[in-house]
Amino acid sequence: MKAARIHEYGEPDVFRIEDVEEPTVGSNEVLVAIRASSVNPIDYKIRGGGQRSVVWLSMPSKLGLDLSGVVTEVGAKVTRFAVGDEVYASPSHRRIGTYAERIAVRESELAHKPKNLTHEEAASIPLVGLTAWDCLVGAANVQPGERVLVQAGSGGVGTFAIQLAKALGASEVLTTCSPRNHELVRSLGADVCIDYRTEDFEEVASGVDVILESIGGEDVRKAIRTVRRGGRVACITAGLPGYTEQYGPALGLTAMVSKTATRMMCAAIGRNVKLRFVTRKASGENLQAITDLIEAGKIRPVIDRVFPLDDIADAHRYLETGRARGKVVIDVASA
Ligand SMILES: NC(=O)c1ccc[n+]([C@@H]2O[C@H](COP(=O)([O-])OP(=O)(O)OC[C@H]3O[C@@H](n4cnc5c(N)ncnc54)[C@H](OP(=O)(O)O)[C@@H]3O)[C@@H](O)[C@H]2O)c1
Repeated sequence: MKAARIHEYGEPDVFRIEDVEEPTVGSNEVLVAIRASSVNPIDYKIRGGGQRSVVWLSMPSKLGLDLSGVVTEVGAKVTRFAVGDEVYASPSHRRIGTYAERIAVRESELAHKPKNLTHEEAASIPLVGLTAWDCLVGAANVQPGERVLVQAGSGGVGTFAIQLAKALGASEVLTTCSPRNHELVRSLGADVCIDYRTEDFEEVASGVDVILESIGGEDVRKAIRTVRRGGRVACITAGLPGYTEQYGPALGLTAMVSKTATRMMCAAIGRNVKLRFVTRKASGENLQAITDLIEAGKIRPVIDRVFPLDDIADAHRYLETGRARGKVVIDVASA
């Protein structure tokens, strides 16, 4: 089958489109013919070697953590899926490799694709949707009537999180992004748009109940000061690539925890703020709940651009500009 692989860590031009071995299917696994994938910042961080403390690839390696496709084979113990089902997933890092024509996914990581979405639309959802879910439903447990600040509302996680916060009953959703994206985020349900280049969210969003923090660094400290006393901050960016570059892959994670995470935890305790560093769980159960919200019309995908699999390097270059509006999708069906 055809897949995009890297033979070394580096810039986007390390990608090669190659013929690779077909995946084998374990008894708890489902073989999926992938129709579409999507690109996430974690992909280029892994490709560049910045995540080696936590995701160590054996080269050559496939990449990609989002898929939508059709079931072509099921393992002997699989009960919830059958050949021909349309499914989507964000598999765990141990099963990386959705920039490919086929993949074996654990049944527990898979969900039925929303019926009202195309494969390209569905492939834009799993990783960012599960991340927003783990932050707003899991870590922060957003309640009806609460005020929620979503950082970077025009990005992959942000476009989903604004809609999820509203679906959970938030009375007011505030978000940061550039003015060119204010109309977009308002159409998703944002009530207050903060231009992070000219305005300080610490002033505009002071006293919110919950913050989904996705910028990292000083913004995490600021989020702890901004949220009300006793509020919750769910943080998804701890800056590991920077620490890996400075301290090397063996010590990067330790340095990050000791130099950043611990200090921020102390700052949070000082204000009685519940600070959680969140890592997306590859949960088919949570993804099925997301399917229900999408089919109920409460959440819609936001796609910026679609690239063919052959142009995966360009897709990475585009996302790495940090200016994507919603998601960058990979068309695998026409590979
Ligand atoms: N822990 C986890 O499990 C997990 C999961 C998913 C993502 N993440 C991390 O979360 C971060 C965001 O992911 P993503 O998929 O949303 O990225 P993304 O789609 O690449 O985000 C792009 C958006 O970021 C906005 N942006 C850039 N700088 C900003 C700033 N200083 N303030 C506010 N907005 C800013 C841009 O808005 P404008 O163009 O409007 O300026 C752009 O729309 C990444 O670092 C990613 O690695 C972590």
